[in-house]
Amino acid sequence: MLINKPRDIKASEITDYVMFKRRREFIKTSGAMLALGAVPMLLHSPVTQAKLVFESLQKSAFSTNEELTPYKAVTTYNNFYEFSTDKRGPAELARDFKSRPWTLEVAGEVNRPKTFDVDELIKLFDLEERIYRLRCVEAWSMVVPWVGFPLHKLIAHAEPNSRAKYVEFETLYDPERMPGQHKSLFGSVLDWPYREGLRIDEAVHPLTILAVGLYGEELPGQNGAPIRLVVPWKYGFKSIKSIVKIKLSEDQPLNTWQAQAPREYGFYANVNPEVPHPRWSQARERRIGEFLKRPTLPFNGYGEQVASLYRGMDPTKLY
Ligand code: MTE
Repeated sequence: MLINKPRDIKASEITDYVMFKRRREFIKTSGAMLALGAVPMLLHSPVTQAKLVFESLQKSAFSTNEELTPYKAVTTYNNFYEFSTDKRGPAELARDFKSRPWTLEVAGEVNRPKTFDVDELIKLFDLEERIYRLRCVEAWSMVVPWVGFPLHKLIAHAEPNSRAKYVEFETLYDPERMPGQHKSLFGSVLDWPYREGLRIDEAVHPLTILAVGLYGEELPGQNGAPIRLVVPWKYGFKSIKSIVKIKLSEDQPLNTWQAQAPREYGFYANVNPEVPHPRWSQARERRIGEFLKRPTLPFNGYGEQVASLYRGMDPTKLY
């Protein structure tokens, strides 16, 4: 399912895309696919769909060899409350989401604060393929081939100062583009914008990435276009989508779900089969597309790499 994604693309934007080091613009018009050589023609013709394709990606050594969850499942069974609280809703409602132009601000306790154009940011760091398990708090899981770069590269680029102890993330707030942010008679679904946070050592851990694609292509709207976080040893809600701001701070931030339901969600949200959610067990999970449940692993199977971050802390408090 390679997506109908109509957009108004400016000629300058196309030129910029095709200049990407290891990528090419993948352009379709009314179902017909045009080869790269046809791009100049497009500068004078209406472009109805465009999609970035990431080529010759290096597969990261952190990748799992497990079977991939099919593209269709990854892109049609989503949690993205800015569009819908129904898992099938975001694929439909985010299909035409405009993720360009897009800026990402890096601010707070850093020597080099900067607001990046997202395409400028993508060009700054080498992209890799990272095949990670993603374990959702609702006891389902997926294996996704993400395209991204380690968050530590961006943090190092910003030069954190000695007060930087946490990293806060914020999603776009724009009810015109994200219909789930509209208030209903019953108020807002969540207190927008969606926010997440990590301790700085979690944020600079080599497993933590900013993803800009999946299955070798630009992220679809429903998966958090144009840029999202992926932290594979934590429950899925930590992997905040459509990020517009990253702020380094001295104090531990209050995240969206923690603020919404403090009895159910803590700051750390490390996957722990031994600590049940107050309303259901976390001991087992269903991999999308499979019938039988499988045991959930501590830290979602990434314990060897990350358990040392939490030495001395009570693991039952790390939910
Ligand atoms: N980010 C934002 N901004 N809004 C959300 O509702 N849902 C989270 C997370 N990131 C969410 C979000 C939850 S609960 C999960 S499980 C993952 O996104 C799902 O990611 P996926 O749809 O790409 O599988």
